[in-house]
Amino acid sequence: MAGARGAFGSRFGFILAAAGSAVGLGNIWGFPTKVGQGGGALFVLIYLICVVMICAPIMIAELAVGRRSGKDPVGAFTAIKPGSSWWLAGALGVMAGVGILSFYSVIAGWTIGYIYFAASGALTGDSAATSAFFGEFVGNAPLSIGLTFVVLAITAGTLMGGVKQGIERMTKTLMPMLLVLMVLLVVRAVTLPGAGAGLSYYLNPDFSKLSFRMFNTALGQAFFSLSLGMGAMITYGSYLAKSENMTRAAMWVVLVDTLVALMAGFIIFPAGFTLAGFDPTSTGPGLIFVVLPQLFATIPGGQLVGVAFFVMLTMAAITSTISLLEVPTAHLIDSHGWNRRKAVLVLAGLTFLLAVPSALSQGASPFWSNLPGVGMDFLSLMAIVWNDFALPIGGFLLAIFVGHVWRVDQALDELNQGGTMPAAGVWSFLIQWVCPAAIGLIIFFTFKDLLS
Ligand code: PFF
Repeated sequence: MAGARGAFGSRFGFILAAAGSAVGLGNIWGFPTKVGQGGGALFVLIYLICVVMICAPIMIAELAVGRRSGKDPVGAFTAIKPGSSWWLAGALGVMAGVGILSFYSVIAGWTIGYIYFAASGALTGDSAATSAFFGEFVGNAPLSIGLTFVVLAITAGTLMGGVKQGIERMTKTLMPMLLVLMVLLVVRAVTLPGAGAGLSYYLNPDFSKLSFRMFNTALGQAFFSLSLGMGAMITYGSYLAKSENMTRAAMWVVLVDTLVALMAGFIIFPAGFTLAGFDPTSTGPGLIFVVLPQLFATIPGGQLVGVAFFVMLTMAAITSTISLLEVPTAHLIDSHGWNRRKAVLVLAGLTFLLAVPSALSQGASPFWSNLPGVGMDFLSLMAIVWNDFALPIGGFLLAIFVGHVWRVDQALDELNQGGTMPAAGVWSFLIQWVCPAAIGLIIFFTFKDLLS
């Protein structure tokens, strides 16, 4: 029974918690960074296609698997197909939870640092100074490692409170505040003198830049942003009451997440392009940390806005880190009988150890900052392995599982509880054929590109 393991208190609470998992650094830090590196509007277009055609059906499928089984991802595959090897797909998700959290917590640590810097007035409107400041900050080993530790400690603390008290209560207050602040920042950014150049970069696609790698990055980003492909939504679905209409809940989460990502672009690019020497392709992980302080400098009371923004961003990140850690935690509780406290502490400790090389990889250690033979830093490598490959592969396996092993009529039986599912035929077609074929092709051609 889901109730015995903990459950969400209300539909609104569930939507907020799932949206809290989805909305995070992936939207506000990751999306604009990928748009910048991936060539602007064309990337945005491909991203949106991935969200609608591939990710939305997978979100629904993950929730259905979770609620039907009432289990963690490994337990869920086993419960639905006992005696098969499908549990391995769940195990990939459990590992992805730790893998993603290990670098995610480092970046979330940066956002905590920036709350302090925004408050102390250390961030100025000067372009060269803000970017030098960022480089120096992320290259400071004790600070970076210390802040990562703080993020993991807050995450672990929240998770020990369980589903309703911990996860749901925290998200309910934070998400609406974040949305309001973002709308205000969009209005300020698009009305800056010179904002037009950024808007055109963001909205006019250049089709000559099309490549499979771009599809792969967009797909990985869409999975990451929507918390898909690693069983986070299976886990959250397992805490959802049978009376809820899951399709509608899933649509809300997809909508909110996509809007926040798009809004982040409407803030960063108009603001970025008003700065001298701004090059979106070469800015990398520092993009928002360098551009936003300069935007705040143009706003009356900008120091306060800056503090509020980084507080919100940290909160958005924490509602995502708790879902990342909840997946392996639920696994140890459900499948291995651990108690919640022990599971959380052991996993947070393990994640911290894995996070240290990422924290050192932004300048503090020459070795981790430029891995020999790899040509990139450890944090970027982790992001590529988990986001661009592990999540799409996880999504691919889930689509095959739901579409052809569990089968859509069984899934629909679950989805129709709590209200008849709208557009069930469209969903069945997408999950059975479009999702596996599209993800399979993208992964295949990306590997081919990498190897040639
Ligand atoms: N969706 C989160 C973000 O966009 O920041 C990151 C994330 C959370 C990915 C949970 C995967 C996950 F299971």
